[in-house]
Amino acid sequence: MDERIISSKETLDDLAVTSALRPQTLDDYIGQPQLKENLRTALAAARGRGESLDHVLLYGPPGLGKTTLAHIVANEMGVELVTSSGPALERAGDLVGILTNLKPGSVFFIDEIHRLPRIVEEYLYSAMEDFSVDFMIDKGAFAKSIKLPVAPFTLVGATTRAGKLSAPLRERFGLFYHLDFYPDDELVKIVTRSAHILGVPTEPDGAMEIARRSRGTPRIANRLLRRVRDFAQVKADGVITREVADIALTALGVDGRGLDELDRKLLRTIIDFYQGGPVGVEALAATLNEESDTLVDMVEPFLLKIGYLSRTPSGRKTTPLAYQHFGLQPGQSTLPGQGNLFTE
Ligand code: ADE
Repeated sequence: MDERIISSKETLDDLAVTSALRPQTLDDYIGQPQLKENLRTALAAARGRGESLDHVLLYGPPGLGKTTLAHIVANEMGVELVTSSGPALERAGDLVGILTNLKPGSVFFIDEIHRLPRIVEEYLYSAMEDFSVDFMIDKGAFAKSIKLPVAPFTLVGATTRAGKLSAPLRERFGLFYHLDFYPDDELVKIVTRSAHILGVPTEPDGAMEIARRSRGTPRIANRLLRRVRDFAQVKADGVITREVADIALTALGVDGRGLDELDRKLLRTIIDFYQGGPVGVEALAATLNEESDTLVDMVEPFLLKIGYLSRTPSGRKTTPLAYQHFGLQPGQSTLPGQGNLFTE
């Protein structure tokens, strides 16, 4: 999974260049116009009152810019950003240590906040609400609880699905922003901006080809841009044209619609093994030898968005568009010699 060229999971390679490509202000941030406008108002109001911003929950598929927005919030408020993640905060002491060291107004970003262990999560409740934490010290007969103050801060939580959060945690956020996949014209702007920062000559058609094949995801667009740049440099004259982008992306296994081998495998499995569905996600994950969470968080959202997959109460189904993608009639199999499963 991690080697997927179009995985939306952040890799070390991404991290090395992310800070250079990451927009620093809301004005530089491309796309999500509704979110941007609402966030701009909330920031201006908090600044006007001289208060910290309400706690913010960002939710949506990976790679769409949740971490970038946390950086922008801190930057726009002129405060420090402290970052961590749900899985990294294993013990209550880890969280309490960070909370009690925050400076007034700080932005505390917790990525994958739905993965906070429940006993750690409970310490967040009073910190978010009353800016204090009750911490137990000592054990057994000597155990006592001490109340520690926390400076007023803004928690920015990121998660792939808002529904994954426990109700008490969700209720403590004041601002909820959903990030959706980016349309091609916005991705073109992102690719063009990144190419400019990286100093890669890119023709508009080349940027469009990369955008169209990025699954609506800036992180993927920036990654594909870097891979196409390698191709342009080694196999062409260094300029990213539509043709160079097409050859490079096809060689990398990214098809004309931006689907990679795992996307195609998922669709073909439903078509060939489950006659187009419905099939439950657990059965599908077992057949594909993948974690069901990986399918639900990383693979399915884009296939649902482009209408190749539908989710029904009885399971996942492929749509006529998915059949069309493989050059098939609905009901046909991608396996040679299988013919039409519905009519034969
Ligand atoms: N790089 C990654 N996401 C971006 C965005 N939304 N706007 C500008 N640059 C980006």
